[in-house]
Amino acid sequence: MEISSILQGGYQHPLSRTWQGRQLNKSMLMYPIFITDDDDARVEVPTLPGQCRWGVNRLEGFLGPLVKKGLASVILFGVPMKCQKDPHGGPADDPNGPVIQAIKKIRQLFPDLYIATDVCLCEYTSHGHCGYLREDQTIDTELSIARIAEVALAYAKAGAHCVAPSDMMDGRIQAIKRRLIDEGYGNRCTLMSYSAKFASALYGPFRDAAGSSPSFGNRKCYQLPPNAKGLARRAIKRDVNEGADIIMVKPALPYLDVISDAAELARDLPLACYQVSGEYAMVCAGATQGVYDLRTMAFETCESMVRAGATIILTYFTPQFLDWLDEKP
Ligand code: PBG
Ligand code: ZN
Repeated sequence: MEISSILQGGYQHPLSRTWQGRQLNKSMLMYPIFITDDDDARVEVPTLPGQCRWGVNRLEGFLGPLVKKGLASVILFGVPMKCQKDPHGGPADDPNGPVIQAIKKIRQLFPDLYIATDVCLCEYTSHGHCGYLREDQTIDTELSIARIAEVALAYAKAGAHCVAPSDMMDGRIQAIKRRLIDEGYGNRCTLMSYSAKFASALYGPFRDAAGSSPSFGNRKCYQLPPNAKGLARRAIKRDVNEGADIIMVKPALPYLDVISDAAELARDLPLACYQVSGEYAMVCAGATQGVYDLRTMAFETCESMVRAGATIILTYFTPQFLDWLDEKP
């Protein structure tokens, strides 16, 4: 046998196996959490095992133990139940709304916890779409991005360390960055772009959790078609040029090639990927069916994202990883 045929000598020990590629670690994990406007609420989401909608009064009890275990960052999603939704997503930046209240509360309770906020209108619009609609139900891009920039600024002013627009409207990265700079937040708030966000079947449990399904139609005119490698590459390059600080690919597992493309196209930026609600539910469901061990599969999926080039992973497995990463040999 050729000497170069023998590879097993290089990974025979648990430690030498860790040297074979970048490792998942706690600082990479960003935990998506749902904040509702019933302050004492703790409501389980049936399609997202183990995840709840939380009222601000519950955040201390919920996040405290996780912060102790090394939780580094969260991304907040607002789930308004009581407010009056309107065509412009008016409640998105209500100072008494769940997101702004939660930012302030978390800053005060856990000063070292990094707070990102999803920025979108769909949870707050009467029609459930992510932007403004014209009479003919097409997106009014100019009005949408001006409104989204306003909401992002409100979250930055409330104390968010990072704003993350998920609406997929053209030009919103430039509009938000400009607005943050003009208002003095250019160096106080990070802009993470959901750059390559695909029109996926994997958002179902999230839409249950957030109550953000469109009341008619779908999102195919703004989220990317699953076959669109070229559009994804163009969107990533565009958002880098428009001033994004972090690029994101979403969903993650079916789009590892796009993550790998983003690692090359945006090589000077941190790269996030979102293991979305349906991916999480799928991993959990397979484990429940006895197809595989949950922990092993959670690691395998997230390690594939790291291998493809991700440096940040948004995942509902974050609380479990905080335990598992302490146990791992
Ligand atoms: C809303 C939004 C969605 C997700 C994050 N922000 C759903 C959608 O586009 O309908 C999905 C997250 C998940 O599935 O976990 N703009
Ligand atoms: Zn949206």
